[in-house]
Amino acid sequence: MIGAQDNGDADKRAAAAAAVAEVCDGMLIGLGTGSTATHAIRLIGARVAEGLRIRAVVTSRASEALSRDLGIPLLDFADVPRVDLTIDGADEIDARLFAIKGAGGAMLREKVVAAASARMVVIADVSKRVDAIGAHASVPVEILPFARASVLARLGEAAVLRMAGDSPYVTDNGNLIADCRLDLSDPRGRAAELAAIPGALGHGLFLDEVDAAYIADQGVVSRLERDGGGG
Ligand code: A5P
Repeated sequence: MIGAQDNGDADKRAAAAAAVAEVCDGMLIGLGTGSTATHAIRLIGARVAEGLRIRAVVTSRASEALSRDLGIPLLDFADVPRVDLTIDGADEIDARLFAIKGAGGAMLREKVVAAASARMVVIADVSKRVDAIGAHASVPVEILPFARASVLARLGEAAVLRMAGDSPYVTDNGNLIADCRLDLSDPRGRAAELAAIPGALGHGLFLDEVDAAYIADQGVVSRLERDGGGG
């Protein structure tokens, strides 16, 4: 019997396949992080093995290790000013193409790569599709360890320091994360507030970066476009 989780994984792969169909020879691709992005990386790896000529940048050490295993040619993002197409997952996404990212802890690099991309595509199963972001997901905030106490004090009771067992979770950048349950009725105002906290290095509200989304529901993939197109 196929359970809900199996459906979800098949849908993650279906959404990933739709986005990977946009990848063409010669492109510089941004590779996201998480279980849905992993499907995309595997599908791109299979196409590279068949002769697709691309180069890629990665948004996390985990995606780097997988991409290297699959033989995807990687560049150091520090040397890359522009990316053609980035494919990444999300924790929530709505019809405005506002997204929350960072349950996997990679949102700072994910946002930098997304912002440098001519096109950024979110891939997700339907469980991530919400009427308005903030329905379920917390907003992760990356914190400079030096500023831990002051940033947590600014974030207030809504913030919980992310843990990995008994120790604080540490990002690929060597920083901490606070997961914040926030009222997102004014997402731009909230994003501006978070960005203004000294020692808060980034957050998981993606309000301008996402150009399109492929959302899969029981094998049927829908596309949302920022310009209102899609199908
Ligand atoms: C990683 O930090 C995240 O932004 C992920 O892209 C997001 O959490 C979605 O992950 P899943 O595809 O595993 O749900």
